Amino acid sequence: MKNDPIGILDSGIGGVTVLKEILKILPHENYIYYSDSIHNPYGEKTKKEIFQYVDHIMNIFIKKNCKAVVFACNTATALAIDDIRKKYENIIIVGIEPAYKMVYDHAKNKKTLVMATPATIQSERFSSLYHLYDNGNTTLLACPELANLIENDDHIKIHSYLKQILPKEDQIEVVVLGCTHYPLMKEEIKNILGDITFYDGGKGVAQRLKTLLEEKNLLSNHGGSIRFYDSANRKDKESRFYELLK
Ligand code: DGL
Repeated sequence: MKNDPIGILDSGIGGVTVLKEILKILPHENYIYYSDSIHNPYGEKTKKEIFQYVDHIMNIFIKKNCKAVVFACNTATALAIDDIRKKYENIIIVGIEPAYKMVYDHAKNKKTLVMATPATIQSERFSSLYHLYDNGNTTLLACPELANLIENDDHIKIHSYLKQILPKEDQIEVVVLGCTHYPLMKEEIKNILGDITFYDGGKGVAQRLKTLLEEKNLLSNHGGSIRFYDSANRKDKESRFYELLK
């Protein structure tokens, strides 16, 4: 049981940014990473569709005896985690959400930009979070297509997309990266917005996972393997995933 794997899911390779944080504090676990390329991007899908995709991945993780699952995807967390938790009651499930509470805790009065997929921004779950921690100085920016451009590693298009979509007039001080793909583009965002502070949910997810495994006495004492699956069996994604993990 202790050495059973931990399943990590995302619509693509973006969840690697979360896995990297997890590996910093849980290096001796065995991981199965599932990238759902066939259905990428999730950010423009309906709640029903996202539930179906994630439910399918959960079945795979259960067959592989996963002791815990991490939704390394803000969109899947926002739209499907509540229903998935109801269906799979006996497994630890940790989700990620835009780190807006961190702004409240550490940078309350700062001019803030929250970037996320359209599905996340429009979700009830994010709306509750936003209203709970609203600092009255925040712009919400839904970024259709951005995760997809990052997924395809198309830097020229990413740069012109960001130039077009990022607000120019306000002096943004804090950016919440509310999609797990976006931390891969920190430098590009900084180049356009200047010296800003980033927040994302990766560290919090890692800590939460560790706490839950400890509570249930499920921490592994040896291991450290990472296996990658892609729903479209894309070998290019696999090599990029391992490259990004270095
Ligand atoms: N990486 C995901 C997220 O955190 C999903 C991106 C997408 O597929 O649209 O929201």
